[in-house]
Amino acid sequence: MSYKISAILSFLAIAACSDAGSTIPQEQSTNNQTTNDLADVGTDVAVVEEVVIPPMPELVGTPLFTDINEDPNIVEVNLIAAMQPIAVSDDLTLDMYAYNGSVPGPLLEATVGDTVIVHFTNTLDEPTTIHWHGLRISDDMDGNPRIQTPVAPGETFTYSFVVPDAGTFWYHPHVRTNEQIEKGLYGPLVVHEKAEERPLPDRERVFVLDDILIDGDKIAAPYGSHMEAMHGRFGNALLTNGLLKGVFGSAKAGEVERWRLINSANARTMEIRIEGASFKVYGNDGGRVTPYITPELVMPVGRRFDVEVVYDQPGQVALQQIVVVQNATGNLVKQAFDVAVIDVGPADAGTDNTVVEWAPAPVRPVRAIDRSEVVVFDAVEGGPLGIEWRINGEAHKMAPLFEFAKGATVKMEIRNELAPEHPFHLHGQFFEIEGLPGVWDTVLVPGESSVNITALMDNPGDWMMHCHIAEHAELGMMSSFRVSE
Ligand code: C2O
Ligand code: CU
Repeated sequence: MSYKISAILSFLAIAACSDAGSTIPQEQSTNNQTTNDLADVGTDVAVVEEVVIPPMPELVGTPLFTDINEDPNIVEVNLIAAMQPIAVSDDLTLDMYAYNGSVPGPLLEATVGDTVIVHFTNTLDEPTTIHWHGLRISDDMDGNPRIQTPVAPGETFTYSFVVPDAGTFWYHPHVRTNEQIEKGLYGPLVVHEKAEERPLPDRERVFVLDDILIDGDKIAAPYGSHMEAMHGRFGNALLTNGLLKGVFGSAKAGEVERWRLINSANARTMEIRIEGASFKVYGNDGGRVTPYITPELVMPVGRRFDVEVVYDQPGQVALQQIVVVQNATGNLVKQAFDVAVIDVGPADAGTDNTVVEWAPAPVRPVRAIDRSEVVVFDAVEGGPLGIEWRINGEAHKMAPLFEFAKGATVKMEIRNELAPEHPFHLHGQFFEIEGLPGVWDTVLVPGESSVNITALMDNPGDWMMHCHIAEHAELGMMSSFRVSE
């Protein structure tokens, strides 16, 4: 079998940066999936309700949970998964799966060290679990269906854990993820820094970035094509905070915001730009990093970035996704779609709050490597859809592929032998990516190339490691590892 795909457009020139701070190149996607029909979305905007939660900065984007526990160090919420009609635009309502009636599900907010208790009820007609993507919690609360018996229709389960790290995370099911996530089961999860380390921008915004494949007035049935088994499902519409036409907001010149971006798509690696304002990267999967400038953010599935956006002047600021589309003459071209537009009005008289004091990013000790492993991605013909994706020669490996001692620092060379790219994810641990600052839980492994990571195996338990392209994972690209006490 050959998976060669021809290279298309060269990457757009990288804009020069004169601002303070270093420029860090991003990962590079080798995917060339085109997306037609996108041209008619992304131009108009809809209003998202703004919510204020003192003493935190205003946090805008998705609905919030109601915390039913009075203890300030416990966040206790009810969460229900249900099938229901969801309006993704003024004239399109889709039958979706929703958490507490909304897509994305409500924002789960806690402060580092808090106990989070989630009383989950499944009213879908199929089993499901909830995985708290990126949280280093205990494995029995991780939503791993190999450990937790999935929650059957009509059943409940209470998740309870302490959140150990500040950052931007998300939650989603870990059963038939290609269909359950596509249908709308995902939500943002923000763990705030402790009060004394918490930056106080004028506002925070959460953007959950998705794409969906719409067929008439429905979400298309899964595995509609061989392409989908090969590259994962690429949508024909961008869905931002659950809205096809994107998000609209307003701000004032001089204000500073923290944007938390989450890629919850099935397969699409997103290229993101912010036009009309200056921005710096302040954090990623594993929390805060020393700020740096980049012209564009590359977000494989599962990835998060925190950026500081400074509204230098009045005007419009757009969060854009750069997408490959086929134009009228059949050529593949990159096109920018506005997925959020912020109208920036004139500065309030007498305010000058462009300076936000950010506590320095945590300094992580350099750790000596005490073990090296190789992880190989390939595929063979087989399985119900003609292709089986494998990690180290096995599809759906249940027994641990590796066993590590708690605290091990493990260099992993990840070799992708075929052309489709894979956003690789480890549960329960963070890792460093060669050449990038900070720690991560998701790394993009481009087609026919290798990437080195250094995994910090600090959280004992039985964990999954898998490609986060949902179709690849469901077609075998899911393995396990163990970290023992
Ligand atoms: Cu978002 Cu197994 O993960
Ligand atoms: Cu993959």
